[in-house]
Amino acid sequence: MSGLTRRRFLASSSAAAAGLAAGPWVGKSWAQGGPIKIGVLLPYSGVYAVLGESITQAMELVFAREGGMVAGRKIELIKEDSEAKPPVGVRKADKLIDSDKVDLLTGPVHSGVLAGIRDKVHNTKTILIVSNAGADQISRERCSRWIFRTSFSNWQPCQPMGGWVAKNVAKEVFQIAPNYQAGKDMMAAFRETFLPAGGKVIAEDYPKLGETDYAPFITKIKQSGAKAVFAFFSGSDAVNFVKQYDQFGLKQTIKLTGAGFLTEPDVLPAQGQSALGVITGHFYTPLLDNPVNQRFVREFKEKYNKSTDGFACQGYDTAEVIVRALKGVNGNTQDKMKLVEAIAKVEFDSPRGRFRFDPKTQNVIQPFIYVREVKEVAGGLNNVVIDRIADVRDPGTGCTLPV
Ligand code: PHB
Repeated sequence: MSGLTRRRFLASSSAAAAGLAAGPWVGKSWAQGGPIKIGVLLPYSGVYAVLGESITQAMELVFAREGGMVAGRKIELIKEDSEAKPPVGVRKADKLIDSDKVDLLTGPVHSGVLAGIRDKVHNTKTILIVSNAGADQISRERCSRWIFRTSFSNWQPCQPMGGWVAKNVAKEVFQIAPNYQAGKDMMAAFRETFLPAGGKVIAEDYPKLGETDYAPFITKIKQSGAKAVFAFFSGSDAVNFVKQYDQFGLKQTIKLTGAGFLTEPDVLPAQGQSALGVITGHFYTPLLDNPVNQRFVREFKEKYNKSTDGFACQGYDTAEVIVRALKGVNGNTQDKMKLVEAIAKVEFDSPRGRFRFDPKTQNVIQPFIYVREVKEVAGGLNNVVIDRIADVRDPGTGCTLPV
């Protein structure tokens, strides 16, 4: 044997011996691997910055509970600010996938960012766990085996509200939302049950995302003859809209209703008394009476000195799904289809109730959509449950696209 061949032989046989000594291949070899890289693509600036903050904080709470490790591998978060702008989000996703070579990707918040990164994620077989953006198309014609959603589809918090508002609030409604995919999805979902219940959409309007002066829109609402409003706004848009709606004196006369994001606890303190009486539909409220939520609310308050909100619940569930799936494959991130199968199977008690994915859409099944009213309870403003609709699944019927 020549020197070179002998050295090669020794190298490979000692590698084999190390493999044997390490026990089952899929067991410890991954456990001894490098960190698991998770790309976190969220807005840390702009209209939706408060959402990005809540999601990240809750993810970090769960990972800290695990000691920052899973299956013997360190969890490394690589955070990128999408600014909730599609071109920025697309650029940052490219960087996370191509340069950082992340094992998993999570985020985004903005439906347009999700729509923009979808093909890249699908074509590179990057596993994406959507922790907010609700674009309905991702549960329907643009679904992918590589994409899961732990948050909601835009349809989910709004479709049940149409019938409820027609029955309990008013039949003449003005619809208003920011002018992009999420706003359009949510308003359409509301109409699906509102119109058959005898409701009439008096008018609809779509201000730009990031509008700061709602006066012209509120004037139109006032003059329209509508008896109620159904709105979607979130982040700083929700603060501005809800405060200006009250300042223009509409709150007393035209009931404000909407998707839950309108009055989540990330914006409630800034809205203050202006939010009192607003009725919204959502899968979560910090008041949910289950032990997992009670612990979550307590630990979140201890660590961050603020209330949980739906976005934090999404961050919690995203991290919980990641931890459980990675444990299920012993930390092996190489066999991506095995990891996809492990993610699809994850089930656990979440702060929102029993968490599981709908196999038809890989979107979360909402145990309940709660109809909530902002009231002053226990010394603060809170979304108090006044009704609920069980087992809300996006109507997507199945991903027919190739893997
Ligand atoms: C979205 O763009 O999908 C979106 C953004 C903020 C929300 C909900 C949905 O609160």
